[in-house]
Amino acid sequence: MQPAKKEPTRFVCSQCGFVSRKWLGRCPDCGAWDSLGEQQQPAPRLGRRTATAQPLNAQMEEENSRLLTNIGEMDRVLGGGIVPGSLVLIGGDPGIGKSTLILQLLASLAAQNLPTLYVTGEESVRQIRMRAGRLNIGTEAISVSTENCVEAIVDLALATQPALLAVDSIQTVYSEEVGSAPGSVTQVREATARLLALAKAHHLPILLVGHVTKDGAIAGPRVLEHMVDTVLYFEGDRGQVFRILRTVKNRFGSTNEIGVFEMQENGLVGVDNPSALFLAERPVNVPGSVVLPSVEGTRPILVEVQALVSRSSPGSARRTAIGADPQRLALLTAVLEKKLGVALFDHDIFLNIAGGIRIVEPALDLGVVAALLSSFLEKPIDPTTVVCGEVGLAGEIRAVGQMEMRVREAHRLGFTTFLVPESSSRQLQSKAAGGVQILPVRTVAELAERLFRDPRT
Ligand code: TYD
Ligand code: MG
Repeated sequence: MQPAKKEPTRFVCSQCGFVSRKWLGRCPDCGAWDSLGEQQQPAPRLGRRTATAQPLNAQMEEENSRLLTNIGEMDRVLGGGIVPGSLVLIGGDPGIGKSTLILQLLASLAAQNLPTLYVTGEESVRQIRMRAGRLNIGTEAISVSTENCVEAIVDLALATQPALLAVDSIQTVYSEEVGSAPGSVTQVREATARLLALAKAHHLPILLVGHVTKDGAIAGPRVLEHMVDTVLYFEGDRGQVFRILRTVKNRFGSTNEIGVFEMQENGLVGVDNPSALFLAERPVNVPGSVVLPSVEGTRPILVEVQALVSRSSPGSARRTAIGADPQRLALLTAVLEKKLGVALFDHDIFLNIAGGIRIVEPALDLGVVAALLSSFLEKPIDPTTVVCGEVGLAGEIRAVGQMEMRVREAHRLGFTTFLVPESSSRQLQSKAAGGVQILPVRTVAELAERLFRDPRT
């Protein structure tokens, strides 16, 4: 054997992962003070590597043998169950229900006689047992460990051979071979790399829970999201009972897919008819409210868009968007000022998507514009009307995808008038069911005209 070479030292920022050859008091990348820690670089590999190859269709076979969780909303966001050997990251605010979701998932696998291993660094075994009691789940097939060291976790998984391993959370896990503290960027990355290797080598699916930072990103380097196969975010307003599980990345399925749950006294319950749920508390004939048929992933969901436009003292107009992109709101506000001449500069604007859901698709534009105008003019929008479309900078209304699906869902819930981009209207008109009115709109001015007659009065 050759003597090991002296390993070079490098300094890694614990906040952002920046690497430097020498120690610095302040990270030049993220500006954090005293965040650089010393780290030994792994010695270069000696000897020749042997590469292997496999037939291309092997992967497909693997995909076909997905592990069904039997939790409908969960299987949907995963693209039809868990792919063997895949690494799934679930991020979300503290207290949103990540550990509850995982325990229910493990219980569902246990009901299929599949043994699972739950590694937790967040809670004691007793706390998990209490939660299991609250959820009324049998715990025989679920093994729990409070181990934090990733090398020991890998050994334990290899010894017990579970059908699925859950690690709650990745921030509490550390590798013995890295010097920095648990939770640091280097540790999170290293621990994930170990688990990734375990997943791929033994076809073991692994579920990781990740904490999110104040600005909503999963704590740790972006590279964490690059390393795993699937990234899910568990979102919702803690004051509300709805929880949305959203796919933001999926190597084995479509993204933007959402699962809707309700957090009840004894656990999360999937919601079969989210549209009805999101519209349940909608005020009728009140200015500033409009319904939008949104499509999240492959499923249509009706949401209520609310706007409140009120006069502010000059120079201090506020713009707030909850559940929508604030920049998009700013853009649409500018379009309304320019194209319709509505003076919004001395008004506070609050935009909200009811029910704590977040809408990211451009089709939301028309809902935002309609709600803003309705509130500004103090004129309610007809309660059987829905609007849907993207708005361009010239005030033109552009087509969005899956219009038929949107119209069908809205009609199912009793809506009969549809204001849609002109380019989609003809096709929709030819297929529309009886009693359905498809009205094309080309510009925001036409929209205002259709909704309120004259927008300037
Ligand atoms: P938890 O799963 O611990 O959240 P996380 O792991 O994301 O931090 O869930 C926390 C909240 O959920 C807690 O405030 C209690 C509530 N909860 C229920 O309302 N019903 C239940 O059945 C359970 C288990 C929790
Ligand atoms: Mg938890």
